[in-house]
Amino acid sequence: MSDSESNGGRPGALLEARVPGDKSISHRALLFAALADGVSHLKGLLVGEDCQSTASVLRSLGVDIPPLEVSSSTLGDGVTRVRGVSFSGLQTKTLGSSPPLLDCGNSGTTARLLLGILAGAGVGAVLTGDASLRSRPMRRVTGPLAEMGARFQEHGEPDRLPIEVRSSAGGLSDGRFRLPVASAQVKSALLLAGLLSGKRVEVIEPLRSRDHTERMLTAMGMDLEEGPAPGGGWRVVLPAFAGSLDPLVLDVPGDPSSAAFIAALAALGGAGEGVRIQHVGLNPTRIGAFRVLQRMGASVTLTPNTDSDGVRQGSEPVGEVTVVPASLKGTRIAGEEIPSLIDELPLLAIVAARAQGVTQIRDAGELRVKESDRIAVMAQNLRRVGIRVDEHPDGMDIFGSPGTRLLGTVSSEGDHRIAMAFGILRALPGNQIEVRNSEVAQVSYPGFWSHLESLGQGASARPTRPAAAAEPGDVIHPPIITLDGPAGSGKSTTARAVAARLGIPHLDSGALYRAVTLRLLEDGRAEELWPELTREELDTWDIRFVSATQGLEIRIHGLDPGDRLRGADVTAKVSAVAALSVVRDWLLSAQREAAQQGGIVADGRDMGTVVFPHAHLKVFMEADLEARARRRLLEVADGDEAGLEPSKVSEEAVRMGARDDADRQRTVAPLRPAPDALHLDTTTLSFEAQVERVVEWARRSHPALKPTQ
Ligand code: S3P
Repeated sequence: MSDSESNGGRPGALLEARVPGDKSISHRALLFAALADGVSHLKGLLVGEDCQSTASVLRSLGVDIPPLEVSSSTLGDGVTRVRGVSFSGLQTKTLGSSPPLLDCGNSGTTARLLLGILAGAGVGAVLTGDASLRSRPMRRVTGPLAEMGARFQEHGEPDRLPIEVRSSAGGLSDGRFRLPVASAQVKSALLLAGLLSGKRVEVIEPLRSRDHTERMLTAMGMDLEEGPAPGGGWRVVLPAFAGSLDPLVLDVPGDPSSAAFIAALAALGGAGEGVRIQHVGLNPTRIGAFRVLQRMGASVTLTPNTDSDGVRQGSEPVGEVTVVPASLKGTRIAGEEIPSLIDELPLLAIVAARAQGVTQIRDAGELRVKESDRIAVMAQNLRRVGIRVDEHPDGMDIFGSPGTRLLGTVSSEGDHRIAMAFGILRALPGNQIEVRNSEVAQVSYPGFWSHLESLGQGASARPTRPAAAAEPGDVIHPPIITLDGPAGSGKSTTARAVAARLGIPHLDSGALYRAVTLRLLEDGRAEELWPELTREELDTWDIRFVSATQGLEIRIHGLDPGDRLRGADVTAKVSAVAALSVVRDWLLSAQREAAQQGGIVADGRDMGTVVFPHAHLKVFMEADLEARARRRLLEVADGDEAGLEPSKVSEEAVRMGARDDADRQRTVAPLRPAPDALHLDTTTLSFEAQVERVVEWARRSHPALKPTQ
């Protein structure tokens, strides 16, 4: 790696930055130092919550670990001394007859590496963690360990923590594994089990994952073998070993995963003329995100320190990362590079949202079992701020919109990397994004938010764009507002009134289904034959919306169907037609096309979930059954309250309840709120108040709709 590998760019007055210590290396440094013979000196350990979990679990195992303290610089750059207890010195205090409970908090690395250590040492304990960690798969570790002879008992759901490691006197046998996924946690757990039980372990992973365990064990005197495996993949062999580990003298490099946030901020123009981040780990198994940024057009330079002391760094390469802003384009992120950037994918999705064109992420199904389902959570949150994302089982397509101002509220779902990724989007000039549950950044990057702010201030000596009005050249997608809800929740009347107040068209999706129904009835086609309808046939009917003075109006072959659309025969059959998936699929494009003409307020049952998943505002309207039944009867009785008999109201309520159940359970477009919808319970709200509420939300969701003063 050298300057010549950068994409050029002219570093001007760069902001200087440093990031906290590497999380993967800090975990290993604490764990391996605890197992060494002698005192290790660990400088610059990450003091984030994940490493606190490792330290506290080690304390419960009888290792004297001093408090890991956040220094005033937030970088925890003091030296931590750890006196190792050697392979046989881990002990637990049993409470009565039950094994001790070791809480790994949010940290997958702590849990998985400890499973290997405890199994290898034959020490019994129950490992558990927070709700996120308790939802992550563990058999990927306990399965192969059991093949070596380790014994486990699952105390909760299958494949999940809490899991008890049974103490065993018999020891383990050698292990040879071909892993189905590239995982440094699994690989490390198996190597550690072999190390502590004195057995040979050979691991082949499909792709090379981060190699900190191998490097650190080598720095502590072990002799591992590694290289490409015959038949494909990457092979690591830990020989049977009867000695002890030398203590470690380590200066933990800055975490490249944390540096990537600052690099992305700078590449996107959120840190003035750019940044220089010093003392960053440049291990080749970790720097895929910088390579992707370069490929997207960013000016990123990686400069290794040639004078760094290899041993002190635990055999880890360290250097400087320099980034200056550039305009970025979409790319494809897939295949072999995935393990080298797996933790950076949420951030790269954010960068993709600001790049020109589409970015495809594939082969990253592992993201679904990280601290959250990172594919689902990123897709949902990006849509909430107005970015189109198509989700795939192993990735997503992100449709970049570099000029658009992004607004909205996102939730980290308790995942530190999601919170920080949106922190970067939020810090970019012009965007207005609220990140809920943002404090989770503490897990891996204490001080993240203040660091971001200081970089922003450092940059603000130069003029930045005001956050308010759009500027010439900004591409603003027309506002899309969806109102979904069950029958009688008032969605169509509310949608019509909201559209009128906002001065944008109302899309009456029901009219489209009615038009198809009308056409089928007028054709005289037998109802049993409706499911055979094809897209090609539907195409020839030319059903579309046109802009008219009253808003959008339906045309069939260019003709206005008029009152025929509301006829009783159409009303009786329209829900059968709406349940045909060929019709729904075909109508998607008609609806989306209509929305492009100048924004839309659309009401229906799947507007926010299926038709406009990236709507700026999604509302799900609800009201209790009785209120909805009364409304429906009032509509028929032309508003005559006096004529409403209680028995009629309850009959109607029963009918509506049955319809709700059927709508919720049907396979095609079931009725359900979009996860990011705002719920509006209209049971006790007046019609005016409902409209007012939605108008207000809409105005906050899109700059073209201007907030009221
Ligand atoms: C880690 C390995 C990766 C990574 C995690 C840290 C490690 O997980 O996502 O944040 O320190 O070994 P997998 O091993 O499950 O891929």
